[in-house]
Amino acid sequence: MNNWQQLQSECQACTKCGLCETRTQVVFGVGNPHAKVMFIGEGPGEHEDLQGEPFVGKGGQFLDKLLAAVDLDRKENIYITNLVKCRPPQNRDPLPEEQEACLPWLRAQVSLLRPKIIVCLGRIASMKLIRPDIRITREHGIFFEKNGTLMMPTLHPAALLRTPSKKPDAFEDFLQLREKIDQLHLL
Ligand code: URA
Ligand code: SF4
Repeated sequence: MNNWQQLQSECQACTKCGLCETRTQVVFGVGNPHAKVMFIGEGPGEHEDLQGEPFVGKGGQFLDKLLAAVDLDRKENIYITNLVKCRPPQNRDPLPEEQEACLPWLRAQVSLLRPKIIVCLGRIASMKLIRPDIRITREHGIFFEKNGTLMMPTLHPAALLRTPSKKPDAFEDFLQLREKIDQLHLL
């Protein structure tokens, strides 16, 4: 078994927080294991919990469109996962202790991938991974450097479906991302 398969099978058996009791399955992540760009959401929703893949509901379909607009594809050149790997009941925000319990899995994924750019999808992931007091509305699309990795917060796809007037802002972030990828010759 390679490192990724080993990590995934360990994670799939995880019972480190209470979310293990209500999940259908662990949603580990999807994408190219050599990707230089990583996307991190909040946690699986209903569709993700049932299908075992991140961002496969309505929000995920919109995310795929944004990605396609800048020539990115989850099967080709990026990796996508979530801050917590199991679905919080009723899609509530993951609790601080659940985020903390799950973080070692994400850290292990980052260690294997060693991405140059991490895009944080939405407020919860951005607060945990970039800065606790981050303001997405003001700071989306900005690249923050953390331990040699560029971290960019952007709006959550589900928020864009609720507030379509924010879609141009998100599109602008994805264009910035593409520019950075090209500048750094990451693809
Ligand atoms: N929202 C998220 O944050 N992640 C998913 O995988 C699906 C919806
Ligand atoms: Fe383990 Fe994370 Fe699932 Fe909690 S959310 S049971 S820490 S994999």
